[in-house]
Amino acid sequence: MAIVTQLTRNVLEVRQIRKAFPRPSGGELTVLDNVDLTLKEGEIVGLLGRSGSGKSTLLRIMAGLVEPSAGETLFRGKPIDGPAAGIAMVFQTFALFPWLTVLQNVRLGLDALQIPEEEARKRALEAIDLVGMDGFESAYPKEISGGMRQRVGFARALVVHPDLLLLDEPFSALDVLTAETLRTDLLDLWSEKLMPIKSILLVTHNIEEAVLMCDRILVFSSNPGRVVAEIPVDIPRPRNRLDAKFRRLVDKIYERMTMPATIAAPAPGVPTIAEEGITKALPRVSTNSMAGLIEAIAGPPYNGRADLPELADDMHIGMDQLFSIGETLSLLRFADLEGGDIRLTEAGRRFAVEDPNIRKQLFAERLLANVPLAAHIRRVLDERPAHRAPYARFAEELEDAMSEERAEQTLRSVINWGRFAEVFAYDENQAMLSLDNPS
Ligand SMILES: Nc1ncnc2c1ncn2[C@@H]1O[C@H](COP(=O)(O)OP(=O)(O)OP(=O)(O)O)[C@@H](O)[C@H]1O
Ligand SMILES: [Mg+2]
Repeated sequence: MAIVTQLTRNVLEVRQIRKAFPRPSGGELTVLDNVDLTLKEGEIVGLLGRSGSGKSTLLRIMAGLVEPSAGETLFRGKPIDGPAAGIAMVFQTFALFPWLTVLQNVRLGLDALQIPEEEARKRALEAIDLVGMDGFESAYPKEISGGMRQRVGFARALVVHPDLLLLDEPFSALDVLTAETLRTDLLDLWSEKLMPIKSILLVTHNIEEAVLMCDRILVFSSNPGRVVAEIPVDIPRPRNRLDAKFRRLVDKIYERMTMPATIAAPAPGVPTIAEEGITKALPRVSTNSMAGLIEAIAGPPYNGRADLPELADDMHIGMDQLFSIGETLSLLRFADLEGGDIRLTEAGRRFAVEDPNIRKQLFAERLLANVPLAAHIRRVLDERPAHRAPYARFAEELEDAMSEERAEQTLRSVINWGRFAEVFAYDENQAMLSLDNPS
């Protein structure tokens, strides 16, 4: 009996999902690997992961919009093949049709279901009412604010009376106040049980948002994406972001997310995007933001060591950005990430106080010693008689190991760093790397 109850209470089960995309240069890119997760009735689950870790791909698989390379998804115990009727999704940007009114946009959510016109209209009006858009039925998307457009996005998902709501960073494109209002409204609807929804999966890269809204949080790794930790949120609702318990949990999750295993957790025998060596993918981080962060950590009140959430708040930057800069500083051995803190190394402390020329030298040494791709480019340029090599030469090399997009980002970053350190030069017009620095 107990077992039966348990089974029927699982709204969605994801079992051993793997997803790989073909690479332009042949072979494939494994985006998701061994993903397992279960959504039960009555819970809001957060999926917290870095940009590009495969969260949206996983959501699309869960909604039946994309087919996995391996594994299966069970909705109410039945395998999903094709878009599932009881699952609705809300996207980051409000994909509304500009030529349709609010009512028509919401009504559209019912197109796939064969519902009589009168009933469809009634349900659309109810959904509009539910999200607080009563009175705006005949407005066009361009006549309403971004926050209102996202409310319409929610209404379009709710109108089908889904069992499961999949939210793909639905608040991230909104301004701070609008986002918070919408979060609170959604939580109110949920706790007052005004929606027939049984379970919500919220994808986000905002730790505070996850702690505010979710009953448990799944931490997602990158390269390939997989669930690496589950963190229950046992804080009573309504939650207050300033509560000591809330802050402690945010800190703990920051710490979990800076662990190397979260950043790259290759499955045994599975080639990953971020292989070591010259094909290690590099984040998009400018030398300016690195210098800015080093200076901030070196100065008061931190004096060389800072708590990451505090630093993010202070510098008004998001977690994703802070992690990228922090990871790059750690890669270059200017700083160490440990226990949710970032601490400057000896070299980091020197960088903070030196003049621009010494900074360049310090940076050049660290770059050549710690970024194999930079050393490789330098070597190729050294060996060529004219000391020049086209951008495409390196792009092709990287594309064997990563997506075209990622290869471009990696090369852009290494060029930015190499130029700053005067390790090599780059001519944008000719897309040519060289040793003679024109400046
Ligand atoms: N159709 C596709 N073909 C090839 N590669 C793809 C495709 N869709 C996604 N990818 C790649 O899969 C990886 C994960 O993408 P995805 O959009 O799922 O990540 P995400 O975690 O949602 O990122 P973000 O936080 O930026 O939204 C990326 O490297 C992306 O380039
Ligand atoms: Mg996404």
